[in-house]
Amino acid sequence: MDTFKERYGPAALVTGASSGIGTGFAEELAARGINLVLAARRVDRLEELKARLEADYGIAVQVVRCDLADPQAPARLVAACEGDDIGLVVSNAGFGIKGWFEQVDAHVMAEMLTVNCHAQMQIAHGFVPKMKARGRGGLLLVSSVEGLMGGPFSTAYAATKALVVALGEGLWGELQGTGVDVLTLTPGATESEAAAKQGFDPAKMTNVQSARECAALALDNLANGPTYCPNPHYRALFERMTAMPRQQALLAMAQGMRPKN
Ligand SMILES: NC(=O)c1ccc[n+]([C@@H]2O[C@H](COP(=O)([O-])OP(=O)(O)OC[C@H]3O[C@@H](n4cnc5c(N)ncnc54)[C@H](OP(=O)(O)O)[C@@H]3O)[C@@H](O)[C@H]2O)c1
Repeated sequence: MDTFKERYGPAALVTGASSGIGTGFAEELAARGINLVLAARRVDRLEELKARLEADYGIAVQVVRCDLADPQAPARLVAACEGDDIGLVVSNAGFGIKGWFEQVDAHVMAEMLTVNCHAQMQIAHGFVPKMKARGRGGLLLVSSVEGLMGGPFSTAYAATKALVVALGEGLWGELQGTGVDVLTLTPGATESEAAAKQGFDPAKMTNVQSARECAALALDNLANGPTYCPNPHYRALFERMTAMPRQQALLAMAQGMRPKN
């Protein structure tokens, strides 16, 4: 297969397309001529994106409202894509919580587990048989560099992202020879609404990658799994951290991430 569209088209599902990295994926896929199914809760954002991408790139976009904190939502999302020939799934929706583990709201933590883990696993489970039957396609799971080791003061979030790394690595091994590429993306700091939602000032962050660049590099590396970090600074940092004795790495991480107050 020589072109991206032949290999991963004609349509892609992007979850969490209403902001940040998901919007970057939608824009980059539209520019590559891929039709889209865009899913999130904020459908007003998705409708705006649909209008812009259809006008700019002449592709077809379907908008699906879904709240992935509802355990039944992934099955409904898979069903909503029934009429589309989905060649690529970008399972991106997710969120994080930072701070002392015991101070995290238990309800929000449960919601994070459902969105970041349950939904990703169910979406993969819904699409893998379809992808295998097609004999070509891609499954891209969005994790984080934080999924590559324990993350003090981001403990619960890092744990959810570690599940995604394990899920993606397992599927990468299982789907060899099927024509379906599996990539687990481990972004570093990327432009999105995530930092502000977690109480950080995005202006004070360094080595931040644009969402569009993150998405473009991920799509260019779909066949180079199992995992891929698109941000050179964070790739080098986590290569060093994961090569260190684990106690030393965790102590360094705890020092860097410890809340100021
Ligand atoms: N930005 C970073 O630095 C960074 C680094 C590593 C990994 N990541 C990962 O990248 C992914 C995208 O996050 P982002 O950074 O782009 O943050 P973001 O701008 O906050 O986007 C998060 C997206 O997920 C969707 N989402 C959240 N909860 C949802 C729910 N219950 N149901 C359906 N959709 C939901 C949001 O849509 P609605 O609110 O409209 O539902 C939004 O489109 C996440 O998995 C995140 O963990 C981000």
